[in-house]
Amino acid sequence: MRLLYFKNAEDLARRISAKLGLDARPVEERDFPDGEVLVRVEPAREAALIARLYPDVNKNLVKLFLALDALADYGAERLILVLPYMPYARQDRRFREGEPISVKAVLGHIKEYPVSHIISVDLHKPYIADYVGNVRVVNVYPAAKIAEALRRWNIDVVLSPDFGSQFRAEAVAKALGAAWDYFEKYRDRETGEIFMRPRSGLSLQGKNVAIVDDILATGGTLAEACENAKALGAAGVYAAVTHCQLLGNARERTKCLSAVYCSNTIPCEYSSIDVSAELAEALAQIL
Ligand code: R5P
Repeated sequence: MRLLYFKNAEDLARRISAKLGLDARPVEERDFPDGEVLVRVEPAREAALIARLYPDVNKNLVKLFLALDALADYGAERLILVLPYMPYARQDRRFREGEPISVKAVLGHIKEYPVSHIISVDLHKPYIADYVGNVRVVNVYPAAKIAEALRRWNIDVVLSPDFGSQFRAEAVAKALGAAWDYFEKYRDRETGEIFMRPRSGLSLQGKNVAIVDDILATGGTLAEACENAKALGAAGVYAAVTHCQLLGNARERTKCLSAVYCSNTIPCEYSSIDVSAELAEALAQIL
């Protein structure tokens, strides 16, 4: 089994190859002035390919498909994809008539190749794994590492910003030995204003609260959750997010938080949670 990687995933590739004793080779990449791209791979019968698809998701997806195509043409029989961040995962259903299920389209292309497994981290919705047919999807959620990062703040309550993310709050809270819940929106019948509060009615007064979510994009979701937690009396509010895109003025918007922790699926200044050990472990289980 050979480990192939795109150059923006070299850090992960080095750590994974060191843990598993695999021979790691980069995929050669070229970007042409007209926007087209080209790759060159070392043929392998069996290979794990690490592709960090964010940022530049569209370009990186084309490079991934070209690499898969070349590997298949050269006789690959078994490929394992390591995709730390799954792009297009938020378009996991049709929100308006006429729209595609984008993540189904992306995964549909992968199905065309001899890919046996996809290892990814914190899929936006775990059910998107169903869109990739017989390819087995390993969805890593580094709850223990997230808990480790948050532990110094003596977290009392872990909250997700919404119902859909509550399983993250539950997993991290269990690792911390804290309470957990999810935020629910409600409208004040007198003023018409919209507020958020824990679904169960759990009090946040004087508590240290951690907000966990999968993606920090513009920061709006975390800012809203933090401000509501503070309005409900939280003593300190911290956040741990798996994939940090930090778009626009996200850093400014999330100033309400006393600390933000992200994983290194998308490297940024908050990426203190290294998922390479979890990816290596998932890969080791398959090999
Ligand atoms: C939404 O479904 C996701 O789980 C995140 O909550 C969302 O993508 C965060 O986006 P933003 O930072 O722009 O509020």
